[in-house]
Order: sequence, then C-alpha cells, then structure tokens
Amino acid sequence: MRPPNVSNAAANQGLVLESFGDRLNVAVVGAAGGLGRAFADDLDGCEAVAALHAFSRSNSGGRTEKLAWQRLDLEDEASIADAAALAKRESGELHLVIVATGILHDGAQLQPEKSWRSISGPAMETAFRVNTIGPALVAKHFLPLLATDSKSVFAALSARVGSIEDNELGGWHAYRASKAALNMVIKTLSIELARRNARAICVGLHPGTVDSALSKPFQGGVPEGKLFQPAHAARALLMVLDGLSPGDSGGLFAWDGTRIPF
Ligand SMILES: NC(=O)c1ccc[n+]([C@@H]2O[C@H](COP(=O)([O-])OP(=O)(O)OC[C@H]3O[C@@H](n4cnc5c(N)ncnc54)[C@H](OP(=O)(O)O)[C@@H]3O)[C@@H](O)[C@H]2O)c1
Repeated sequence: MRPPNVSNAAANQGLVLESFGDRLNVAVVGAAGGLGRAFADDLDGCEAVAALHAFSRSNSGGRTEKLAWQRLDLEDEASIADAAALAKRESGELHLVIVATGILHDGAQLQPEKSWRSISGPAMETAFRVNTIGPALVAKHFLPLLATDSKSVFAALSARVGSIEDNELGGWHAYRASKAALNMVIKTLSIELARRNARAICVGLHPGTVDSALSKPFQGGVPEGKLFQPAHAARALLMVLDGLSPGDSGGLFAWDGTRIPF
C-alpha cells in the first residue's frame, strides 16, 4: 500500500480519494457512532462521492439529495438485507462499504474483564453478536454489491487488541476474542472475494484510541496526544483505504497505514 498522508491540518481540508475515481457510491454502517458519524461526515463532504448510504440502529439523520439514512440492526439480519436491497436499488453498485459498529461495554453484563474470573457467557455472546457475527452478516449482503470494474473496498472496524501476536497485557477476554474472530472472518472473506471480484479489497481497520462513547471509561491511561478525535481518525483511515490495492486484501491496517499481525 501507499503510505497515508494525513495530519490534523489535512483533516480540515476536503477529502480526496485519488485511487477510487469519481461518482462514488459509499455506505457507512453504524453511522451514528463516534467513528461512524465522522466517516459519514467526511464522505458527505467529498466531491467524488455521489451517493452516501448511512445505516444505523438509532438516530436517523433523514435524507438529502446525496445522503440517505436507513435503520440497520446488526442483530436483525432482515434489516441488513433490507439495507443492502435499498443500496442496490438506489445505487446499483458500491465502491466503499465501511462497517463502523462495535461494542466494548453495554452498561449491563458486558464490561472488559480484568481476570478470567469475570468471564460471562451471555456477555461474551453479546460481544460476538455485535463485533463478529454482525459484520459477517453485513459482508454477506454487501460484498455482492461491490463494483467490479473499478477499485472497491469493504472495511470493518476491528482493533489492535484483537491481534493474538500483539497480546501482551491480557484481559478484555470477550472484546479481544470477538475482534480476533472478526479478523479471521475478514481474512476468510477476502479469499472468496478475490475469486469473485479481482479488483475488490476486504480489510480490517484499527483506528487508534479515539474519543468516543466506546472508549470513554478507559481514557484515563491514554498518553498525552494519543487520544484521537473521531474526525482525525476517520480521515487517517480513509487515507489508508485510498492507498490499498488488492494485494492488501485480508489484512488488518492501523490508522498510520502499518499492517498489524494477526
Ligand atoms: N474508540 C476507540 O478507541 C476504538 C479503538 C479500537 C477500535 N475501535 C473500534 O471502532 C469501532 C467504532 O467504535 P466507536 O469508538 O465509534 O464506538 P461508538 O461511538 O460506541 O460507536 C459504536 C456504534 O456501534 C453501533 N452498534 C452497536 N451495536 C449495534 C447493533 N446491534 N446494530 C447496529 N449498530 C450497533 C452503535 O449504535 P447505537 O448508536 O445505536 O448504539 C454505535 O453507533 C468499533 O468496532 C470499535 O471496536 C474503537
């Protein structure tokens, strides 16, 4: 991949996606979340984007000439199928699909575990339903919509803590395991995708530590300057996606363009 060129200043300038061409149809799943909204805002402001499909479980943002919101709940496959059908009906094909959903805590059973003593079956099921199974079902319905005659990308937000090789601290059993499983889903999808659509790319993304509802309870130990604003992280990741080629498919990429080992 080409190294991304992003700075805080660049995030204030209009988004340019050089490698994708123009008249782009894009979709953001989880568009009401911290990162999801930042992706949607940046893509909405991008001149090359012709249609933006924003999907979220809550907070519909309505409709403009370019932007259409629709409900999508990862735990309701029919809502995912409906969302894909709408995108197909209105746009035909998609050039970029970003899945920006995810869960780390739910204010109830699911809390990052400090010890194996805290492992809970129901909490782990919640993490897997949202972090692993949901994005897999989105892929099932949206990968067939990826454009075949130009670059197209399916990207799901994963996390560095889902890397088995990178795990030196332990803890966070459910979140780590659900993201490691997501990384395997992405790798496996990429193999089938390469057979069906040679120009398409399927990757996982790590945004860094980003100021959002997901990270809020855990921001205390984040070193100075290492907590990114969602707009900055989203722009950095869009620049990473712009630099990807089919040979990168199946990988997990950080906000700075580095490939994270599984
Ligand atoms: N923030 C970080 O520091 C960080 C670091 C590494 C990786 N990530 C990853 O980045 C992604 C985005 O995180 P974020 O920081 O933007 O968190 P966030 O602000 O909490 O957004 C997460 C979004 O996921 C949506 N979601 C949860 N369950 C859903 C379901 N069943 N159906 C549809 N949508 C659902 C939520 O929808 P509602 O609005 O309806 O609740 C919310 O909008 C996640 O995958 C996360 O693991 C984040």
